[in-house]
Amino acid sequence: MAKEPDYSGPAIKTEGLVKAFGGRQVLSGVDMHVDPGEVLVVIGISGCGKSTLLRSVIGAYRLDGGSVRLLGRDVTTASEDEWLPLRRRLGILFQQGALYTSMSVGENIALPMREHTDLADPVIEIMVRMKLDLVGLGGTEDLMPAQLSGGMQKRVALARALALDPEVMFYDEPTTGLDPIMAGTVNRLITDFNRKLGVTSLVITQDMNCCYAVADRVIMLYEGKVYFNGTVDHLRTSSDPVVEQFVEGRPDGPVSHRSAMASA
Ligand SMILES: Nc1ncnc2c1ncn2[C@@H]1O[C@H](COP(=O)(O)OP(=O)(O)O)[C@@H](O)[C@H]1O
Ligand SMILES: [Mg+2]
Repeated sequence: MAKEPDYSGPAIKTEGLVKAFGGRQVLSGVDMHVDPGEVLVVIGISGCGKSTLLRSVIGAYRLDGGSVRLLGRDVTTASEDEWLPLRRRLGILFQQGALYTSMSVGENIALPMREHTDLADPVIEIMVRMKLDLVGLGGTEDLMPAQLSGGMQKRVALARALALDPEVMFYDEPTTGLDPIMAGTVNRLITDFNRKLGVTSLVITQDMNCCYAVADRVIMLYEGKVYFNGTVDHLRTSSDPVVEQFVEGRPDGPVSHRSAMASA
């Protein structure tokens, strides 16, 4: 069950977050927050800075302005030592699932436990089994990643992200490249982790089905800022031309991919 947070206020909060690459501002003052127990979905066109926002929040980048609070602590200028105890409370599913190809499924999931805890091997084995059961892949411990389909690899990566029972999960495009049924499975897992395990979640996606399936609240990034913030109902009924164009996938409208210098 969900633990009461040991902090007050949002699980994640950014104020005026600025991040530039080579003098070009990708994020130019992002104010957002995720409440404990909430699933926040971040949408926006390719190259608008969604992954950059995620990496800024988890301390992978030095910011060019603004602040980040995570689990009640100001981490804007946190040192690597200050980050260590915080990072093990986070689970991250990167866009490219990145399993170690030379390790079995079980070894991949055990890795964070071996690195961050001093649990004995038999305990780790049991926990690996539990995590695999959670994602519907019980009994696949001894398979190698190459023997799995893309959707199964994604679920193993999910099980690994859950290895240390994170309080906050970050998902970067969790359904991209999956067939609709596997995408539905992943959406349901995201919802289950949130509802059953109480995991606060930040989900980045361009997949509106994923957005509708998992979101408690949605923000849309556009031109370096939070352009929309509201519920799925607000999103669906918005008459804002930028929001409508994205949500309905219209090729013509105010949004130009050139302005985002799309890459991802
Ligand atoms: N490490 C980096 N170095 C230089 N430019 C980057 C880097 N990461 C992202 N960018 C640029 O920042 C912009 C936003 O990228 P990204 O956050 O990956 O977008 P999204 O995830 O929304 O598709 C893109 O123009 C991308 O080329
Ligand atoms: Mg991205």
